[in-house]
Amino acid sequence: MASWETYLNEHKSRYLDELIEFLRIPSISSQPEHENDVKRAAEWVSGRLQRAGIEAVQVLSTGGHPVVYGEWLHVDSKPTILIYGHFDTQPVDPIDLWSDPPFEPAVKENRVYARGAADDKGNMLIPILAVEALLNSQGKLPVNVKFFFEGQEEIGSPQLAEFIPSHRDLLSCDLILSADGGQWGEDQPALNLGLRGICALQLDVQAAKSDVHSGTYGGTFMNPIHALVQIIESMHSPDGKIMVAGFYEDVRSLSEAERSHIEAIPYSEDDYKKGLGVNELFGEPGYSTYERAWARPTLEVNGIWGGYQGQGNKTVIPSTAHAKISCRLVPDQDPDKIAQLLIAHIEKHAPKCVNVSASHIPGTAYPYLIPHDHPGNQAARAVHKELYGKEPYYARMGGSIPVCGILLRALGAYAVNFAFGLKDENVHAPNEFFRLSSFERGQKAYCMLLNRLGDWEP
Ligand code: BES
Ligand code: ZN
Repeated sequence: MASWETYLNEHKSRYLDELIEFLRIPSISSQPEHENDVKRAAEWVSGRLQRAGIEAVQVLSTGGHPVVYGEWLHVDSKPTILIYGHFDTQPVDPIDLWSDPPFEPAVKENRVYARGAADDKGNMLIPILAVEALLNSQGKLPVNVKFFFEGQEEIGSPQLAEFIPSHRDLLSCDLILSADGGQWGEDQPALNLGLRGICALQLDVQAAKSDVHSGTYGGTFMNPIHALVQIIESMHSPDGKIMVAGFYEDVRSLSEAERSHIEAIPYSEDDYKKGLGVNELFGEPGYSTYERAWARPTLEVNGIWGGYQGQGNKTVIPSTAHAKISCRLVPDQDPDKIAQLLIAHIEKHAPKCVNVSASHIPGTAYPYLIPHDHPGNQAARAVHKELYGKEPYYARMGGSIPVCGILLRALGAYAVNFAFGLKDENVHAPNEFFRLSSFERGQKAYCMLLNRLGDWEP
């Protein structure tokens, strides 16, 4: 049998064709009209796992979008590794800003452009291909492998908080590898030690029973947009601290070791500003940029609407105003507790002359942290050193992957972030892409990591 490296090389162009086929499925989990496409993506993944030689492959319903499970469990004395990823995508808007249609993948300059290319279809296909290469080159796998892919990550995995604990035996494992996440740079690896949690609310303000003429009634009652802005304004101090009572109560301070890991990562404020296209940075005083992005909680308005949005002016006082607000959370904040604190804050600061209601938006996540020296991270570090010729940074990610916290609580197993997308790949934005060099490097990296984990005795 040829080596796994030869196998990967020989099947390179087929693997790219398969990625393109997968990317054509518009599996947008947040939009009901794409429900069937999410299902089609699940079927595609299930077929691909079977062709790779994975057994007991099933598409399982969750009450929401489905999950896909598969296993290869033939090395009794070896650890069991659960590999995770998601086959749903974000919506495509604003569609006008895409150079190519988001679900008609375009290959240009060694990149594939499509919604979901990096987040997470390109990344989640990698371990399937790696396992196929190992099976076809070594005849067996160095560890027991379970695959667990979901179709609801981009809406906060609302059904998985129940599904996972009720499928403990099916999913039990010694370690999880998350193929959602990313790498630091083309030439620089990182171990990502943390993810922030999240909770979200919608705020609805109602004043008059209908829109009214602002000349006839203006000055006699409170405009709901003004009321909404007052409430939002009350949530931060001018220098960027969150003013919701109790908000920071459970925030764990960074240890000296954690701070020094973050400080060891080269940082240029100019490059950071340039990358964003902003003139100045802003945020909670007393913390570095990376500390604020990874280890401090935030409260952000994600959307705000109400009143007239068309051309010219319309002299109206709208009847309602609305906002969507979310918080990124860090250890040991609890998403439900923070949502309660926010609601209490809103009740206290809402002007009494309007009706204000705050409702939970489903899809919360606990913050997640893995010890830097966890055996899974040590194995990943060794692979990175071999592949990149460099020590990985010890970083974190500011985004959320709800399943990492759920799996840790339900199974007691940690997830090592092992994914290959890079920060500039426009995830959640127009012209998302994935580097084909990352696609290929990732396949090698998974082969190397699984082989290494074969020597691990949990
Ligand atoms: N791949 C991202 C998570 C991510 C983003 C990790 C940035 C590291 C850096 C994932 O697909 C995602 O976008 N998650 C959502 C979850 C939310 C809807 C609960 C997020 O973070 O907004
Ligand atoms: Zn995402």
